[in-house]
Amino acid sequence: MMNEHSQFHARLEAHDDITINPSANPPLAELLNPSRRNVLKGGLTLAALGFFAGGISACGKASASPLLNFKGVPVQIDPAFDRVLVTEGYRAVPFFSWGDPVEAGAPAWNPDASDDWQAQLKQAGDNHDGMDFFAFPGESDRGLLVMNHEYINPPLHPSGKIDQSKPRPLNEVRKEQAAHGVSVIEVRKGADGQWQRVMDSAYNRRISMLTPMRLAGPLAAHALMQTASDPRGLEVLGTLNNCATGITPWGTFLTCEENWPNYFINRDPADYAARVAHKRYGLASSGTSKNYAWETADPRFDATPYPDQAHGGHVNEPNRFGWVVEIDPFDPQAQPIKRTAFGRFSRECAALSLGDDGRMAFYSGDDAKGEYLYKFVPSGRFDSANPKASRDLLDHGTLYVAKLNADGSGQWLALVHGQNGLSAEHGFPSQAEVLVNARAAADRAGATPMDRPEWAAVHPKSREVYVTLTNNDGRGNKQPVDKANPRPNNLHGQILRFNEQGADPTATTFTWELFLLAGEARGAKGKDGQPVPANLTGTINGDLFSSPDGVAFDAAGRLWIQTDYDDAEPAMQAMGCNQLLCADPSSREVRRFLVGPRGCEITGLAWSPDGKAMWANIQHPGISFPASDGKTRPRSTTVLITKLDGGVIGS
Ligand code: FEO
Ligand code: CA
Ligand code: CA
Ligand code: CA
Repeated sequence: MMNEHSQFHARLEAHDDITINPSANPPLAELLNPSRRNVLKGGLTLAALGFFAGGISACGKASASPLLNFKGVPVQIDPAFDRVLVTEGYRAVPFFSWGDPVEAGAPAWNPDASDDWQAQLKQAGDNHDGMDFFAFPGESDRGLLVMNHEYINPPLHPSGKIDQSKPRPLNEVRKEQAAHGVSVIEVRKGADGQWQRVMDSAYNRRISMLTPMRLAGPLAAHALMQTASDPRGLEVLGTLNNCATGITPWGTFLTCEENWPNYFINRDPADYAARVAHKRYGLASSGTSKNYAWETADPRFDATPYPDQAHGGHVNEPNRFGWVVEIDPFDPQAQPIKRTAFGRFSRECAALSLGDDGRMAFYSGDDAKGEYLYKFVPSGRFDSANPKASRDLLDHGTLYVAKLNADGSGQWLALVHGQNGLSAEHGFPSQAEVLVNARAAADRAGATPMDRPEWAAVHPKSREVYVTLTNNDGRGNKQPVDKANPRPNNLHGQILRFNEQGADPTATTFTWELFLLAGEARGAKGKDGQPVPANLTGTINGDLFSSPDGVAFDAAGRLWIQTDYDDAEPAMQAMGCNQLLCADPSSREVRRFLVGPRGCEITGLAWSPDGKAMWANIQHPGISFPASDGKTRPRSTTVLITKLDGGVIGS
């Protein structure tokens, strides 16, 4: 099961290949200095990796950083490693796994994975991803943990298989749709000081691909959103590929729809070529949709313009995905709302920066090779004295895309009809086309192609913005290297740090710098045994990792970094399983806090209000976690991490 599962995951990830940005936007002018390029070429040797595998913090050396008060854990290279290893003085226990009951009447998880989709609708979805904690007002020991379920893996089914070569059975498709979306679960700190689920809470809720949601903002009721099943263009069934998240100052959860193009197909070559919204996002054009072939059982995923409405009425269905969806976790009856003012792309996250005056920005990556970094600035302000007035703040505002200059400066380019070349003659007759085709609009405006922007995190005091660029093996080929994306065939990724002008979330200019390049470490030795020479700016100071993905700040300003690389890839084997690390933003020291089971990705982070409990997600473990018995099917799982002495995590 491990191999089959791992291969399936690898195949899903490879779909990023089809969305290489074809635009001709110029890269940053300045090239990497040649001595550095030589380092990179010979650099990532086993010797270098090995040095750091047993490296600084694993040896328990005292840290210069006042923030990193724990010992690093070593890499785990054993291909059978099937548990979570957390640093000494802490414990990590499974808390919430795929199939666990959520809503009233949900059956317990069945280890043989029955294909009862009605049961799945009430149970935890698959592939736990971004996650946030919402404290009940005035209560520090009680809250709602809200998390995304990004996609599904073959162990969802009793057969352990998803066969796209035949029409899909409808009950399997429905179960897969039910396992996408979001879970809301109530959690409470018990008398023993341990956090537990409240199993019968009225707040426990599943939202899935089968949950009706309202379309709001500039695209609501627009012709581009109208379909055979929703001729008014006002209500969409479901949300999918929910990856990272955001929170609003008024206490709602933002779930972000990432790789939606993989769920659709348009088989008409002429229509496909003419339709920017299908071509630029890389929908399938023949065979089946890339993920799961749902269209063989559920026609709304077939966006081909067949002449009869029953079958051809779904050309606009893809336009109804790729948005930010706002969910009020404290109102279990409230319909989720797709906020179209944010624009549409493969949306990774919506990270909030809140100014002192209530003005705000939400930062979002578009995770595909050579895609862009965006921010959405609502027109209004948050008024903490009147949070209810914020109800529809997200329906009005400006979408911007980042242009990074080689000298460390940058501009936010407004994606607004009539500005930056976004006119009818270029295919943007109104703001609706700009928002639906935000990638094409960003091409036209002259945005900087990046190495797969994933999460953003905003420093709790300085409002500096940290953005992970996870990797890009197309760099140096499809997109030339530049200062912010400096490595060709970039297997390991980097983290950038941005400062908005005046620390103002709404600024239109900023400065940026490389915070670190992953996959290399200061003081590492090259293949020849010699220290890596010359310019080490941006490399890692501390423990080694690849492909930074999730990032989040805790209240003390520690930057937590989560990784997502294929641990079966030869280039990754010496750094072993995926990791949760912690960085000091001042010293740039990075230390490994936790290692996950083989085949997993570590993603999603949330804290209790006192910082003494942390939840992290183990997504698509490869062997049999959390049973870790070598035979039970693996389950994506939230783990609860606490310090044995009851202290603040990381302190
Ligand atoms: Fe779902 Fe880009 O991670
Ligand atoms: Ca991610
Ligand atoms: Ca990733
Ligand atoms: Ca993932």
